[in-house]
Amino acid sequence: MAAWKCRTALRLCATVVLLDTVVCKGVVEDLDESFKENRNDDIWLVDFYAPWCGHCKKLEPIWNEVGLEMKSIGSPVKVGKMDATSYSSIASEFGVRGYPTIKLLKGDLAYNYRGPRTKDDIIEFAHRVSGALIRPLPSQQMFEHMQKRHRVFFVYIGGESPLKEKYIDAASELIVYTYFFSASEEVVPEYVTLKEMPAVLVFKDETYFVYDEYEDGDLSSWINRERFQNYLAMDGFLLYELGDTGKLVAIAVIDEKNTSVEHTRLKSIIQEVARDYRDLFHRDFQFGHMDGNDYINTLLMDELTVPTVVVLNTSNQQYFLLDRQIKNVEDMVQFINNILDGVVEAQGGDSIWQRLKRIVFDAKSTIVSIFKSSPLMGCFLFGLPLGVISIMCYGIYTADTDGGYIEERYEVSKSENENQEHIEESKEQQEPSSGESVVPTVQEPKDVLEKKKD
Ligand SMILES: *[C@@H]1O[C@H](CO)[C@@H](O)[C@H](O)[C@H]1NC(C)=O
Ligand SMILES: *[C@@H]1O[C@H](CO)[C@@H](O)[C@H](O)[C@H]1NC(C)=O
Repeated sequence: MAAWKCRTALRLCATVVLLDTVVCKGVVEDLDESFKENRNDDIWLVDFYAPWCGHCKKLEPIWNEVGLEMKSIGSPVKVGKMDATSYSSIASEFGVRGYPTIKLLKGDLAYNYRGPRTKDDIIEFAHRVSGALIRPLPSQQMFEHMQKRHRVFFVYIGGESPLKEKYIDAASELIVYTYFFSASEEVVPEYVTLKEMPAVLVFKDETYFVYDEYEDGDLSSWINRERFQNYLAMDGFLLYELGDTGKLVAIAVIDEKNTSVEHTRLKSIIQEVARDYRDLFHRDFQFGHMDGNDYINTLLMDELTVPTVVVLNTSNQQYFLLDRQIKNVEDMVQFINNILDGVVEAQGGDSIWQRLKRIVFDAKSTIVSIFKSSPLMGCFLFGLPLGVISIMCYGIYTADTDGGYIEERYEVSKSENENQEHIEESKEQQEPSSGESVVPTVQEPKDVLEKKKD
C-alpha cells in the first residue's frame, strides 16, 4: 500500500519537474565557464548551487519563479544559476563558500543575499541592490510614497559634506539590507526638527531618529543597529541578524495559535513597552515575539514553558529570565531596569563551559531527532557499534544465543521504514545482536563526540 502511494507520488513529482523545466527554460539561465567573459555590463542575480544540497533543491522552484517574475516585469537584472561544484574556480572567484549562495553581480561588486529565501524577498533585494545606491527624493509626495512602501529607510539631508561621504560608504556596504535616500530639508515632513545640517535620519515605527556622531559612534554601525523596526515577529534568522546589533532582545515566547489571555496579554505587554518606552530603551533594546519555544530552547539549551519572556544579550549570548509571570507593563519595565542595573542574574553565555555544553547538547538533539524521525535509522547508526560490543561480550560470557528477538526486530523494520528495510535486512544477517538497542536510548553523545574528534 505504502509502496504504491510512494510510486504515485514519484510519478507526480516527475510530471511537475518536467513541467517546471519546460515553463522555466530561458528564464533562468544555466551558467557555465563562459559566464565570466559574457556577463559584460549586465547585472546578474545568480544562485550558486550544488547538485547534492537539500537547501538548493528547495530553492530551485522559488528561483524559477524569481526568474519568471523578473522577466515578466521587464527587469534589467538577469537571473541565472551555476553549478558551483562543476565550475568551482569561477564560483570561488565570486567568493562562494557555501550552498546555495545568492549573489547580485554588478560590475566589480558582488552583493550577498542573506535574507529569507522567498520569492518576494529575493526580488525586493534584486531591485534594491541593482538600482542607485542613494536615491534622491525630489518632492514631498515622493517622500510620503516611500514612507508607505518601506517600513525602515535612511535619509541624508544636506549638501556635499564629509558626512555624505561616510553615508555613501555605509550605503555601499549596507544596501543589501535597507534603503538609502537623500533629500533637501523642504522635502521631509514638518514634524521633523533638525538641530543641525547635514544630518542622517532613520524613519521607522511611525517616527524618526537622528544620527548623533558623538552618542552613536560610527555611522555604519549605527545604521546596522537601526535598520530593524522596534517590534518584530522573531524567527531564528532574524535573531541571527540581530546578533550584529549588540542589542538586548526582549522576546515574548508564545503559542500564536493559543488564544488564551496569558498568550495574547504577554504579546501586547511587549508591544506596549516597545512603543511607549521607546525613548528610554530603544538604544539598548529590540522587542518582539516568537511563536513556539522550539528555536529558543535550542538556543538557550533550556526548556522554557510557554508563554514566557526571555531577554537575550546578543553580544555575549547570555539571557535573562524572570522567575514569575509578567502581569503588566510595569512588571516588564521593572524587569528591564533590573537587567540594566545588573540586578538580574544572567544565564548562559559563551564561556568554554557553555561551549562544551553546546557540543553535548547538539549531539544529544541530533540523536534524539534521528530517533524521532526514524527510530530504525537511529538504532542502526547508534545501535550497531553497541551491538558489536555486545556480541563480543555475549560471546565471551555465554555460549547460548537467542534467535527469538531477531524475528521480532525484522517486523519492526518492515513496518517502521520501508526504505531502510533492505540495508537493515542485510545487516541483520551479519550482526544479529545489533537488535540489542531497539529501544531508543539517549546515552551515546560520547560516542558521537569521539567520532567527531577523529
Ligand atoms: C493555552 O495556554 C494556556 C496557558 O499556558 C494553557 O493552559 C492551555 O492549555 C493552552 N491551550 C491550548 C489549546 O494549547
Ligand atoms: C551584554 O554583553 C556585553 C558584552 O559582554 C556586556 O558588556 C553587557 O554589559 C551585557 N549587557 C547586560 C545587560 O548584561
